[in-house]
Amino acid sequence: MENKPVLRVGLIGTGHISRQHAPGWVATPDAKPVAICELDLARAESCREQLQSLGVSGVTIYRDVDEMLASGQIDCVDIATRPETHLSLVERAAKAGVQVLCQKPLAATLSEAQQMLQICRDAGVRFMVMEMWRFLPWFRDLRRFLAAGAIGPAHYLRIIGSRRPLNRTRPVDPNQPYFADMPRLVVYEMQIHWIDCARYLLGDVESVYMRGGRVNPAIRGEDWAVVVLGHTNGGTTMMESSRATPTDNPPSRREGDVLLEGTEGALHFDPVALELRLARLNGSVEVVARYPDLEQGFQAAFNGCIAHFAAAVRYELPFESSAEDNLRTLATTLAGYDSFQQRAVVPVPLS
Ligand SMILES: NC(=O)c1ccc[n+]([C@@H]2O[C@H](COP(=O)([O-])OP(=O)(O)OC[C@H]3O[C@@H](n4cnc5c(N)ncnc54)[C@H](O)[C@@H]3O)[C@@H](O)[C@H]2O)c1
Repeated sequence: MENKPVLRVGLIGTGHISRQHAPGWVATPDAKPVAICELDLARAESCREQLQSLGVSGVTIYRDVDEMLASGQIDCVDIATRPETHLSLVERAAKAGVQVLCQKPLAATLSEAQQMLQICRDAGVRFMVMEMWRFLPWFRDLRRFLAAGAIGPAHYLRIIGSRRPLNRTRPVDPNQPYFADMPRLVVYEMQIHWIDCARYLLGDVESVYMRGGRVNPAIRGEDWAVVVLGHTNGGTTMMESSRATPTDNPPSRREGDVLLEGTEGALHFDPVALELRLARLNGSVEVVARYPDLEQGFQAAFNGCIAHFAAAVRYELPFESSAEDNLRTLATTLAGYDSFQQRAVVPVPLS
C-alpha cells in the first residue's frame, strides 16, 4: 500500500469521554494528535497532560474551533462534544476541508443529522460516527461466530443492561451530570449503542416498540426502557435497561448481558464470568472466548474504532460505521420515542 502521510488530528471537546479517545489516537499508527480545542482550559490542559503521559508532546491548545481549523495544522477532527454542538462543529470542519469523526448520538433529530451528511458530501469530506460498541471484543466475536455458522441463522438477540441506579439527588451521575437535564435519556444516550450492535448482528430494523418511564424525580428523561426491534430479515431484538432501581444481581458494571440465538445453538456473552459461551443443540456448552477485564475491553473498542477511522481516511478505504450507516441507528432510536409516545409499534424510516 502506498505510504501516505500520517493524519494530524485535532481533538474537539476534552470532557468525560475524551479520556478514552486520547489513548486510541496515540495507539494508531495512522494518526497523531497535534491539537486540542476546548472551551474549558483546565480540561484542555488535562488532556494535553494525558497525551504527554502517553508520549505525545507539542500539542497546541485552542479555545476557538475556527482558529484551529484555519491553522492548517490538522487533517481531521475528533468531535467529542455533546449532540447539541455537533451540527455547527461538523459544518465548520467540513467547510475547512477537514475529515470528521463525531461522537454519538449524532443529533436529536433525523433532519439535523441528514443536514450534517449533506454538508460533508458537498464539501467532499469523509464523515464517520464514533460508535464504538460494535468494536467491543465480545461483539466482534459474536459476529465472527455467527458468520462462521456456529449457531445457524440467528433469529433472536437479547441484551440486558446492568443495574446502576442514578442518585436521586443532583448530580445524578458524577461523570455525566448532564444526564439530569436530558429530556431523553437511557435509549437516546445508552441503548442507542445496542441498537447499533443489533443492526451489526441482525441487520436493519423495520419496526420498533418501546416502553419505559421515569422513576427518579431528579431527572427529566426516562430512566428505564424496554425496546423490541423487528429486523427486516425477520429477526427480533429485545433490549432492556434501568438506571432507576437496584436489584440483587451481581453488580456487573456498565456493559450488557448478550444472548444471541440461532436455529442450531446460542451464544451468550456473560459479563460477570467475562466469557462467551456456545450452547449447542446436543446440550454441550463450550467457553469459546474469555475476556480479561471489562475496562480493557472498552478501551480496545475505542482504540479499534479510532484506528478504523484513521486507516480508512489515510488509505481511502470504506468506513464500517459511516455517518450514512449510523443514520439508520439514529432513525431506529428516534422511532423508539415515537413508539413510546404513541404506545404502538411504529415503522422505522430509512429501513
Ligand atoms: N461509550 C461512548 O462512546 C460514550 C460514553 C460517554 C459519552 N459519549 C458521548 O460523547 C459526547 C460527549 O460526552 P462527555 O460525557 O464527554 O461530555 P462532557 O460534557 O463531559 O464533555 C464535552 C466537552 O466539550 C466541550 N465543548 C463544548 N462545545 C465546544 C466547542 N464549541 N469547542 C470546544 N469544546 C467544546 C465542553 O467544554 C466539554 O468539556 C456525548 O455525545 C455523549 O453521548 C459516548
